Amino acid sequence: MSHEVVEKNIGLMILIIIFVISFGGLVEIVPLFFIKDTTEPVKGVKPYSALRLEGRDIYIREGCYNCHSQMIRPFRAETERYGHYSVAGESVYDHPFQWGSKRTGPDLARVGGRYSDEWHRVHLNNPRDVVPESNMPSFPWLAKNQLDSSNIKKKMRVMNTLISATCSKCETYTDEQIANAEAELKNKTEMDALVAYLQGLGTAIKSRR
Ligand code: HEC
Repeated sequence: MSHEVVEKNIGLMILIIIFVISFGGLVEIVPLFFIKDTTEPVKGVKPYSALRLEGRDIYIREGCYNCHSQMIRPFRAETERYGHYSVAGESVYDHPFQWGSKRTGPDLARVGGRYSDEWHRVHLNNPRDVVPESNMPSFPWLAKNQLDSSNIKKKMRVMNTLISATCSKCETYTDEQIANAEAELKNKTEMDALVAYLQGLGTAIKSRR
């Protein structure tokens, strides 16, 4: 009887459907805000240095995420190729995170330390110089562009706000780090920043590779 009432009243049915789906969603999502694994940094994961923070912004500006994910799924095929699967506590300082989903190129979650700095410089300048069959675009301007450090202090303060709002056990930048940031970026190119960013990716968890 009551089933018939619901089936013949589309408004009521919509309301009940919304309730059921929201409940299901909340049960999955809300606990993530409270469990340790997702709210605390993995040991060794620190806020990005000023140079790496700028490198990360260049990664976003150049659209690297359109072809590269940073999320190793817990499947044998992935861990054999890329190393230990990604865990949430590695991403606590990523605002916004770069997990991505499109893999035209390989996942980069643990690319840190896999190649030398020089390899990255040559590769980013023209990927075909080291991987002849590569269809990754060249980014020759990165080595020529001086890094713009005019916003770094502001960026670090914004990061502090985001970190404090989302992660109680996380470190924030100290006043000293913020004060020294511009000096750290002096005479650096966009290439220096991007390579520094890449070289730190995923290094807190030792992979088997
Ligand atoms: C149009 C797609 C595309 C874009 C955009 C792109 N890549 Fe790639 N990338 C690839 C492909 C395909 C490969 C594999 C061939 C190679 O190594 O060049 C690759 C390989 C790489 C590798 C080597 C990974 C490994 O484990 O061997 C790194 C590092 C890398 N890309 C970084 C970047 C960065 C940084 C950017 C942005 C500045 C970027 N890529 C933009 C497609 C892309």
